[in-house]
Amino acid sequence: MHASFFTAGLVALAAIASVVSAQSILPKDCDRNVTVRAMDTCDGISAVQSVSTYQLATVNSGTIDAGCDNLFIGQIICLGLTGQDCDVTHVMGAGDTCQSVADAAGIPISTLLANNPNVNSACDNVYSGEVLCTASQIYVKTA
Ligand SMILES: *[C@@H]1O[C@H](CO)[C@@H](O)[C@H](O)[C@H]1NC(C)=O
Repeated sequence: MHASFFTAGLVALAAIASVVSAQSILPKDCDRNVTVRAMDTCDGISAVQSVSTYQLATVNSGTIDAGCDNLFIGQIICLGLTGQDCDVTHVMGAGDTCQSVADAAGIPISTLLANNPNVNSACDNVYSGEVLCTASQIYVKTA
């Protein structure tokens, strides 16, 4: 009996700790957040929430790993930081090129590349399902 009280106490503490850590990891200047649900993927969340693949990864670089393999149900993640939150996006489909996406958005390709620093200048590393910021404003600060 003593042991089970102890175990229950540990489980309760672990639950509290995970809630606290899930909340405390959000940046103070988080503009938008979402709670991870079953079967969510980073690109799936990005597509639904209008966040670029780059922005979601960068804003959550302290908590989400590079392969986005460590999402968990109930996790609260930040979608964008105030003042740097691009919410005009396009989900890359088969046949899309940076030029066609830039043209459709009415923006120069230089703006597209500036807002999506994960895309190389030849734009040959994009993939179907990747979400690009297609805003006319440049949100990504250069070093
Ligand atoms: C998430 O965003 C909502 C508003 O949409 C806000 O009320 C809530 O405090 C945010 N959650 C956290 C943990 O910051």
